[in-house]
Amino acid sequence: MGLDWVEDAKKRAAIEAAKCVKDGSVIGLGSGSTVAYAIEEIGRRIMEEDLHILGIPTSYQSFLLAVKSGIPVTTLHEHPVIDLTIDGADQVDSKLNMIKGMGGALTREKIVAAASKRLIIVVDERKLTDKLGWGQPIPIEVLPFAEPLVSKKIREIGGKTSLRETRKGTPYITDNGNFILDVDFGIIENPYELNEKLKMIPGVIETGLFLDMAHIVYVGTRTSVKKIDRLRS
Ligand code: 5RP
Repeated sequence: MGLDWVEDAKKRAAIEAAKCVKDGSVIGLGSGSTVAYAIEEIGRRIMEEDLHILGIPTSYQSFLLAVKSGIPVTTLHEHPVIDLTIDGADQVDSKLNMIKGMGGALTREKIVAAASKRLIIVVDERKLTDKLGWGQPIPIEVLPFAEPLVSKKIREIGGKTSLRETRKGTPYITDNGNFILDVDFGIIENPYELNEKLKMIPGVIETGLFLDMAHIVYVGTRTSVKKIDRLRS
């Protein structure tokens, strides 16, 4: 069976999430191809429903799309508390813990998520998993100067590291001027413990493990949208 359903599924999830945007709110705008549909839909709602919304983009990609879609943008300096953030994910487990960062925007995404009262995630059903790490590396943003040390320390705790490259074979550079290591740990039994260990390594800017952050996940399936809630403790 082909993947023709995937774009429709992503769009359905994104449009459902965009319905949660309320007039007068500050919205965090995640990055990636799924949330791009939500950004366009918020732009459409601003124009057609005359909403007053401000967006805080998590990447140059979402900044440019927000401007093109007619969403006025602001910053964390002006609005340190965000009402709602909508973002995508690479893998989501049954507790709504996630791996993010295949688009390279994980650090700003985590900052914006942490500044948000609510985080809504939009994915297609291929992203759901029982346990994180199954067939999915963890992206880790690393200070270029520190990459050899960080790679060595990660190998010592059992990760297989791969420096992300562009199609031309040069290192991929994030919007913050850093490298990304994609690290395969296999199935991750305890993401909290792993995240702690990774964050202790000097030179690690941020990890793609997003734990206890998502409140709602909209999952686009082949035919509909499923909503998964998590009660934040
Ligand atoms: C970017 C991300 C994206 O949200 C994630 O990679 C999902 O992207 P897509 O919707 O294109 O599959 O974390 O850093």
